[in-house]
Amino acid sequence: MTNTDSTPAPLEFAVTRNLVGTSDAARAEILADPGFGNHFTDHMVDICWSVKGGWHRPRVQPYGPIPLDPAAAVLHYSQTIFEGMKAYRHEDGSIWTFRPEANAARLQRSAQRLALPELPTEYFLESLKQLIAVDGAWVPTEEDQSLYIRPFMFAKEAFLGVRAAEKVAYYVIASPAGAYFPGGVKPISIWLSTDYARAGRGGTGAAKTGGNYASSLLPQAEAYAQGCAQVLFLDSSEGKYLEELGGMNVVLVYKDGRVVTPESPSILAGITLDSVLQLARDRGLQVEQRRVTLAEWQEGVASGDITEVFACGTAAVITPIAQLRNNEVTIGDADAPAGPLTMSLREELTDIQYGRRPDKHGWLTRLDA
Ligand code: PLP
Ligand code: COI
Repeated sequence: MTNTDSTPAPLEFAVTRNLVGTSDAARAEILADPGFGNHFTDHMVDICWSVKGGWHRPRVQPYGPIPLDPAAAVLHYSQTIFEGMKAYRHEDGSIWTFRPEANAARLQRSAQRLALPELPTEYFLESLKQLIAVDGAWVPTEEDQSLYIRPFMFAKEAFLGVRAAEKVAYYVIASPAGAYFPGGVKPISIWLSTDYARAGRGGTGAAKTGGNYASSLLPQAEAYAQGCAQVLFLDSSEGKYLEELGGMNVVLVYKDGRVVTPESPSILAGITLDSVLQLARDRGLQVEQRRVTLAEWQEGVASGDITEVFACGTAAVITPIAQLRNNEVTIGDADAPAGPLTMSLREELTDIQYGRRPDKHGWLTRLDA
């Protein structure tokens, strides 16, 4: 694994411009209604890694297919990790991102777990800046839109023996984004999965790796079939404790102002979650990160002690949860309105991200300068 303690030598990116990129008019049409994850910018960044050469050949090149040997380890053994973050345009036109060092650190933790090389934080930050330097025009100007940035790394070595690959690729692509859920910020219903778990003890639950999402697709399809927007997973051994949603963390709000979120070694440490908990602490609210049972949620809603529940993550920001259900359990009311704390935390967080309020915690990094 690469040593990330000392500052690595700066990378010199070779830039190849996309000469047949999207026209201004076509881009404007996309930005008028981007949806989520449907459209991609004109360029991508990539850096190679090998056991012998370390990180090398940094490039910015036209967005397009990646040549891959059919024996590439990622296609067989899923040795791959990713990150999700956003670039926000401020009123003065400048482009910023939110806590990128935290994404860089999480990519390093994911890399460790998946036996991939750790990308130094400096290279991670530079890769984002390089992409914005050529594709900055793709960062929307509309309120509540952003450019979703997807850094990812995978094993590209052509070798069918099962071991950590000795050749790896790191890429960054980007996609203009509006609301993750088609209904916007309206409260969602969640499907409770009891037949499937997302992650087990000692598994890869805490890493942002493709396999976790692959295993969530079948229960997520069940959720969609039941009219639910996301699936909630419980712990895999007892099926008793809350873990997280397929792609978001979950937070319960008590009447007495406590903000409670599950703690578990097999969930992804969300950067949105961490930020929201900090904003709650800043307001003097008591924050608890601990094991939370499904029964606590059920009883708390029934007694009126739990007044709000929300999901949070980069893609969904903060989204109110109206109801959790499956064939046996129904908690909450599908028509319940968004909770006031949920919406005010959402407003505070997005105000910081879009530069509308002071960034007291130093969470923003400028990408276009
Ligand atoms: N949990 C899972 C499984 C996720 O995919 C995500 C989204 O990235 C999160 C939680 C929230 O993480 P973050 O707030 O860093 O986006
Ligand atoms: C993100 O929020 O960045 C994710 O990776 C979650 C996914 C549902 C898009």
